[in-house]
Amino acid sequence: PLDHLESVWLFGYGSLIYKADFPYLQRRPARIQGWQRRFWQGSHDHRGTPQAPGRVATLVEAAGATCDGMAYEVTPDVFAHLDHREKNGYLRIATRFDWLDQEGSVEGLVYIAGPDNEAYLGAATATEIAQHIARSQGPSGPNSEYLLKLADALRELGEHDEHVFAIEAELRKILA
Ligand code: BEZ
Repeated sequence: PLDHLESVWLFGYGSLIYKADFPYLQRRPARIQGWQRRFWQGSHDHRGTPQAPGRVATLVEAAGATCDGMAYEVTPDVFAHLDHREKNGYLRIATRFDWLDQEGSVEGLVYIAGPDNEAYLGAATATEIAQHIARSQGPSGPNSEYLLKLADALRELGEHDEHVFAIEAELRKILA
């Protein structure tokens, strides 16, 4: 259904912020409304295994919340690559995002893993999530690398994400 379009905007809020392993036409910092980033999704295929899933980011609906990330303008064929990469419970949904570097907004797509997917883990405290991340790893590498790289990338964006930074602080204590 995307194939008739010349390009599509994709909003990244997790690993896509720091790891774009696909070609893109341009990238720009952006914000979506009504969602917050949470480490509530299990990862069977990247940062964990089916027997010991890791914990990775998804978006959770929250009135009044915003989530900052990085938007990529891509050709439609990139979604075949990403649909394969993100097959572990994520679905694409359409949403509007506002630019952080200029006025205006655009309609685009974002991958979200909702509470009804098989790999969903749901809420836990920052300490529990950090302990879980500290002991998890998968084919893409240690789960801790994912969290720490995301925290660094969010700081670079100027985003203060209390959820991510609280987990990061707990994780750094465990790893120290
Ligand atoms: C993201 O960075 O937006 C993302 C990465 C992996 C799965 C879903 C979303």
